Amino acid sequence: MAKKTINDFAQMVENGEKIVYLTAYDYLTAKMEEKAGVDMILVGDSLGMVSLGYDTTFPVTMDDMIRHCSAVRRGAPNTFIVGDMPYMSYQISNEQAIANAGRFIKEAGADCIKLEGGGPMIAERIKSIQQAGILVMGHIGLTPQLMGQIGGYRAQGRSSAAAMKIVNEAKAVEAAGAFSILVEGIPTAVGKAITERAGIPILGIGAGSYTHGQLLIYADMVGMYDNFTPKFVKKYANVGEVLVNAFKEYTAEVRQGQFPIDDEHTYKMSDAEVKEFLAALDK
Ligand code: KIV
Repeated sequence: MAKKTINDFAQMVENGEKIVYLTAYDYLTAKMEEKAGVDMILVGDSLGMVSLGYDTTFPVTMDDMIRHCSAVRRGAPNTFIVGDMPYMSYQISNEQAIANAGRFIKEAGADCIKLEGGGPMIAERIKSIQQAGILVMGHIGLTPQLMGQIGGYRAQGRSSAAAMKIVNEAKAVEAAGAFSILVEGIPTAVGKAITERAGIPILGIGAGSYTHGQLLIYADMVGMYDNFTPKFVKKYANVGEVLVNAFKEYTAEVRQGQFPIDDEHTYKMSDAEVKEFLAALDK
């Protein structure tokens, strides 16, 4: 299947077809997601928590993101890939933001970048990156890189005033030139209002059913990441349990001498070669 472009996404919105979006951080997962036919893959800075074992996304570096995004590209050569700008890779200046966005395209083969926030400074960054010829996806609502300012990892826009602020941020991000916006952790009514007013695809994670597409963190939806599960996650599998059971069975079999079985899992040598080999050992 050919890799989708922004024209395909616009057409999907026009046709009322939902855009399917999942995170991936490595080659194997990306390969399986492409096989499953997802439309878009996010190499999120959630990498820090899901794959690197940090408590937050703050320690994730550009080099971490480039390494993992390249692996995802190798696993999913025909899927639209979004590279997530990590903390402090775009906040400092427009020049820093353009240079790091460019690394995602040039070094990791990403199709676009995503950055968090909806204030005037972020609008300026989006405009600059977009003017440098790079597609930008905005990200508003629950923005983990602004955890301190938004009062922790919690739903946003739950009062009328807070909801209006997010609707206005969506307008500002679109006006700045984003080709799409991800809205995270907001009530359904707010996700609906943003989607109905937007001229670009609105993708949601924990933003209700009205957005043009849905994103989940793959490790949440297959039951692999169990440190914390947000309310909006649906578990489609329990891969974590399957893996632990396989590791347990292997551990027991090795300890009991039940694995490997010589006739089944090992390399063969002809009887003549074995005989000659044993004779050579005895010389
Ligand atoms: O890093 C990520 O995976 C994200 C999602 C949580 C939206 O930005």
